[in-house]
Amino acid sequence: MVFPNIFHVGLLATLATASPYAAIKRQTTQLHESYDFIIAGGGTAGLTVADRLSETFPEKTVLVVEYGDIAYAPGVFDPPDTVWGGASTAPRPGIFSFQSLPNSEVKNRTAVVLAGQTVGGSSAVNGMFFDRGSRFDYDAWARAGSPEFDASEHKWDWQGLFPYFRKSVTFTEPHPDIVEKYGYSWDTSAFGGSTPIHSSFPPFQWADHFVARQAWEEMGVRVADECAGGDKEGVCWVPLSQHPVTARRSHAGLGHYASVATRPNYHLLVQHQVTRVVYPKDVSSGPPLVELRSLTNATVSNITAKAEVILAAGTFHTPTILQRSGIGPAPFLAEVGIPLVLDLPGVGANLHDHSGPTFSWNYTKPGNFSPMPSDMLDVTFAADAAAQFNDTPARGPYTLAMANSAMYVSLPNLTTSHTTITNKIRAMATDGSASSYLPAAYLSDPTLLAGYARQLSILSAFLSNPQAPSLEVPFATGTSSRAFLLHPLSRGTVRLNHTSPLSQPTLDYRSASNPVDFDLHVAHLRFLREMLATPTMRRYGAEETGPGAHVQSDEALREYVKDTLTFSFMHPCCTAAMLPRGLGGVVGPDLRVHGAGGLRVVDVSVLPFLVSAHTSATAYAVGEKAADIIIGSWRA
Ligand SMILES: Cc1cc2nc3c(=O)[nH]c(=O)nc-3n(C[C@H](O)[C@H](O)[C@H](O)COP(=O)(O)OP(=O)(O)OC[C@H]3O[C@@H](n4cnc5c(N)ncnc54)[C@H](O)[C@@H]3O)c2cc1C
Ligand SMILES: *[C@@H]1O[C@H](CO)[C@@H](O)[C@H](O)[C@H]1NC(C)=O
Ligand SMILES: *[C@@H]1O[C@H](CO)[C@@H](O)[C@H](O)[C@H]1NC(C)=O
Ligand SMILES: *[C@@H]1O[C@H](CO)[C@@H](O)[C@H](O)[C@H]1NC(C)=O
Ligand SMILES: *[C@@H]1O[C@H](CO)[C@@H](O)[C@H](O)[C@H]1NC(C)=O
Ligand SMILES: *[C@@H]1O[C@H](CO)[C@@H](O)[C@H](O)[C@H]1NC(C)=O
Ligand SMILES: *[C@@H]1O[C@H](CO)[C@@H](O)[C@H](O)[C@H]1NC(C)=O
Repeated sequence: MVFPNIFHVGLLATLATASPYAAIKRQTTQLHESYDFIIAGGGTAGLTVADRLSETFPEKTVLVVEYGDIAYAPGVFDPPDTVWGGASTAPRPGIFSFQSLPNSEVKNRTAVVLAGQTVGGSSAVNGMFFDRGSRFDYDAWARAGSPEFDASEHKWDWQGLFPYFRKSVTFTEPHPDIVEKYGYSWDTSAFGGSTPIHSSFPPFQWADHFVARQAWEEMGVRVADECAGGDKEGVCWVPLSQHPVTARRSHAGLGHYASVATRPNYHLLVQHQVTRVVYPKDVSSGPPLVELRSLTNATVSNITAKAEVILAAGTFHTPTILQRSGIGPAPFLAEVGIPLVLDLPGVGANLHDHSGPTFSWNYTKPGNFSPMPSDMLDVTFAADAAAQFNDTPARGPYTLAMANSAMYVSLPNLTTSHTTITNKIRAMATDGSASSYLPAAYLSDPTLLAGYARQLSILSAFLSNPQAPSLEVPFATGTSSRAFLLHPLSRGTVRLNHTSPLSQPTLDYRSASNPVDFDLHVAHLRFLREMLATPTMRRYGAEETGPGAHVQSDEALREYVKDTLTFSFMHPCCTAAMLPRGLGGVVGPDLRVHGAGGLRVVDVSVLPFLVSAHTSATAYAVGEKAADIIIGSWRA
């Protein structure tokens, strides 16, 4: 993936003094002594909730505490970036960069993961690929909480989430000329909202964009007119999270903060870390105090929430705040010497992410394609591209970000061994052998084991469904494809670093620790190989370069996966899962932390398991639905 690292320092300075950012708080002395709602983390989901609460309850006060600072993030995919750039682990403003522990199943390699550290969170730094999961993903979430959650009025199945997906964005139809040029398709019934988080199609494609798409079609993959309406199996056009005219990134820091920052009851404090929550009395009689630390002078203070505290610090930091608060797995807290407040084994468990190997080829009879990304190396071409981006409406390469098409294929549609694989999953769940692949913390905890067994039973059914995707192959330009494993079975953990509890947590990714993940990666690679046999690919003389035509046995393909696996496509999730407490869950369907008063989690850590999509659209929908739930409980 492409994560260039240019931040426009000069522009940031201008933003900092210009309205609406003038309202931003930088010192606790600028705050009230207490707020009705305190939200930890000004990211994708957190700002969505803050916007809705402050809008609905003008008489109630809302404080968001954000670790980072304002950054419009203009550098990412905007000039003077090179568009295709490269992932970097170097520290840079606005982005957390993590390296996981070595992964023994994958030759002790480590995951490199980023996360937003700015107003807007990861929505301000991501790849802008703006897709929703399949209806079967969200239906599977609901199944994971059934029967325990059946009595709840809050439904997290597709039907229960679709209205919030629609509400969360403004979709703008592309200009007819662009539709004619690229063949974009969509169905407006999947949209209909007017929230200023924009979803639109770019007015540009690289010249070879149709090659891989045509090959996918020739492989027999269905072409879907719309993939945001719940049916997501086939070749999809995916909108980008950008403004339809300026093609500038649209993110939570703009749509859910800057556009409403003048609301007097909506305060945003930047450059402060929520260190923990503190229950002065019993943990069930909340809300807790919020303890925070200035990142400029290390001063620690408490702020009082009158109604609720909402943790929205993301997959890595929400569980870390809970652990520092004494809310988490009792054995771990004892080990690191944090007094136990509430034993919740699921805090920081269930970590997983999209991962996958790369399939690549070259053309022995290359087409004479122009323009291509390599043209950006030409100074004149690049300058022209930058100028086009500043046109109204914006044009040219910079409007495309990474790319906006992908195919999504179910396991039955990609391999004849699908029943062997799904039977293997069922067998390992039934005979208990699946547990041998889990993190050590699971082995002594019956709730985590039961929760994982339920996940396996749901995932094996999901993977047997010909309409539910197992593989995503995004981005049609160029001579390589990433094979995203959408539903991994391996699970890892997030733990605070006990020698340095306020610094970044320790990530144990454990990618491919469950051997079925290798079976899936190998099946995905074999399927992608079929691309090269299509008439379109043959026309250009496509030859496999990775893994390479000589790599044929399952064993050899597995070795290729071990050598080349990208552990993280930046969609880590599920570390404070919405599951029953008896299944290692952390929050219920109202997103309240089990057993804790006045405390909810609203971010992608509440996902029970991953969806067949990049995660930002789901983060917004979770934020919208959570806001409605919270509003409902304070109206009553
Ligand atoms: C580089 C990258 C590329 C991606 N590409 C795509 C893509 O193309 N399409 C897509 O749909 N998704 C993509 N994603 C994923 C998607 O953006 C995220 O899953 C989603 O935005 C997460 O939302 P969130 O609300 O859970 O957390 P975030 O949006 O990450 O918000 C968490 C916020 O909490 C703050 N915080 C953390 N700790 C504390 C603390 N202790 N106190 C106070 N504040 C704190 C952080 O600074 C951050 O602002 C990408 C992510 C990354 C990082
Ligand atoms: C340090 O930061 C705190 C919290 O923002 C603020 O209240 C205080 O005034 C600062 N102190 C100094 C000496 O800058
Ligand atoms: C991985 O690291 C472990 C522990 O350091 C070591 O025992 C093992 O040999 C390493 N494996 C490989 C493949 O390097
Ligand atoms: C997958 O299989 C289903 C059911 O057999 C079929 O309807 C669908 O068109 C197939 N999709 C693709 C992409 O081949
Ligand atoms: C915050 O409140 C807790 C509980 O009352 C207390 O122990 C702690 O000292 C307070 N911290 C500060 C900085 O006042
Ligand atoms: C393409 O890759 C094949 C296999 O690695 C190699 O033999 C061939 O020389 C390459 N051709 C070009 C044009 O790069
Ligand atoms: C924990 O923090 C210490 C001190 O900052 C650091 O040296 C160490 O590498 C960290 N450990 C991990 C696993 O990140």
